Amino acid sequence: MNSPIGVPESYWMQSTEQTSYPRVTGDIDADVAVIGGGIAGLCCAWEIAGTGRSVTVLEADRIVSGTTGYTTAKVSAQHTLVYDSLRSSFDAETAGMYARSQQDAVEHLVRTAADLGIDCELERAPAYTYVTAPEGVDQIRAEAAAATEAGLSASLVTETGLPFEVAAAIRVEGQVQFHPRRYLLALAAELTRRGGRIFERTRVLGLDEGDPCRLSTEDGATVRARDVVIATHYPVFDRALLFTRLQPRRELAVAGPLSADADPSGMYITPEENTRSVRTAPYRDGRRLLIVTGEHLRPGTASTVDRFDRLATWAREHFPVDSIDYHWGAQDNTTSDDLPYIGRFHPGARHVYVSTGFGGWGMTHGIAGGRILAAELAGDPLPWARIYDPRRLHPVVESGSLLKSGLDVGRHLIGDRLAPSTFRDSSDDLAPGSGAVMRRSGQRCAVYRDEAGRLHTVSAVCTHLGCLVAFNDAETSWDCPCHGSRFDIDGKVLEGPATTPLRPVETGED
Ligand code: FES
Repeated sequence: MNSPIGVPESYWMQSTEQTSYPRVTGDIDADVAVIGGGIAGLCCAWEIAGTGRSVTVLEADRIVSGTTGYTTAKVSAQHTLVYDSLRSSFDAETAGMYARSQQDAVEHLVRTAADLGIDCELERAPAYTYVTAPEGVDQIRAEAAAATEAGLSASLVTETGLPFEVAAAIRVEGQVQFHPRRYLLALAAELTRRGGRIFERTRVLGLDEGDPCRLSTEDGATVRARDVVIATHYPVFDRALLFTRLQPRRELAVAGPLSADADPSGMYITPEENTRSVRTAPYRDGRRLLIVTGEHLRPGTASTVDRFDRLATWAREHFPVDSIDYHWGAQDNTTSDDLPYIGRFHPGARHVYVSTGFGGWGMTHGIAGGRILAAELAGDPLPWARIYDPRRLHPVVESGSLLKSGLDVGRHLIGDRLAPSTFRDSSDDLAPGSGAVMRRSGQRCAVYRDEAGRLHTVSAVCTHLGCLVAFNDAETSWDCPCHGSRFDIDGKVLEGPATTPLRPVETGED
């Protein structure tokens, strides 16, 4: 029987087949190697292959099974309240370039899906940002004006398709929602038909930025490529020290069936209540699947069980859903100036590029990133590429965010080790299905008791930069609060920037 919040899986993952691309087993050459097989990596590979260069995608796990498999899959240029923020932090031109790049990504997806005949449940829908509290109306009014000035087809409205009153909303026309795995798995298959290569279960551990670049894999193979794109979400090689400018954020989702006549006919988001984001998708028996996301948090800092419950309660209170069938979480990174990093990796980089920091809007940013990098590699940069250049530094805009991020990391790196309450002394009262950080044989250990009563004990020290992990109770993982690495109960890496597992610890306990 399902729990009140359904099975712990994303609908996108559950409704599609797993892929089975081979591992890299020997040394290979390509014009361009793309590390990471999510939307950013696959769209990059697709666009670059279209310019006539040979492309190889290297994915540590299975393609489209990381954040992209757990997204809400809104393909929208309307990003909550971004335009007024960009206009005031930068200028109207930056906001305009952002809007053009995002709407270009929306239209590019529609064209590509049509050209390739991909059935990915693609639907046009308006996108709304709304508030229910009167004190938020001025913010919405300013955003509607900024989005219009930036070139979007935006209007200020008070009527929406939601089954409750709003105080005000921005409505942006011509946006898109789709099934991300149906689209990207078809795109990947087409890429290989056109000569591109995709390798799964191929974790890249080393990068030599020579000419050509050399990538070394966990299995000892070498991939030589003139150019390398790092599209691993959080960059696996952090020579630009982006970890000081990227803040990890985990967002939770619940989904349940809704009758078609209760469909709110649009994509919605509000900054209220720690974010609520709503869309629907085609589901079984003519019904729609309501997907509600929100309750974002820094990984490893709070119980996710409580937050999933809050989200499910909100969904039931606001929509006539029969049940909650699925729950899942996704992770993304926010940059210190709210613009993604797409372009050359660091000031000295000649052949290494990055695409990351999508701030929860990875569908359009992932597609836009592919367009930007393909054009850059072809020597014909897109006009809006410069606003995303990772080598930028905007000290005034970024200082507050950098300071907060540095303080957060420092607090976890040092404070968590000193706080006596961090550690439990005994595993005796550890209930099945729960985990805690403990001292064992003089070491800080992450201890999980499985449903059969067996203890799984690994080092609690994150293999990225040494912060202590914390137990994620709803998703049964060890999450690092510093830069968002996640590990399973036996220490396997689920999410970077860490690339090596948590060290197993032998305690003799069981
Ligand atoms: Fe950086 Fe854990 S992710 S220390």
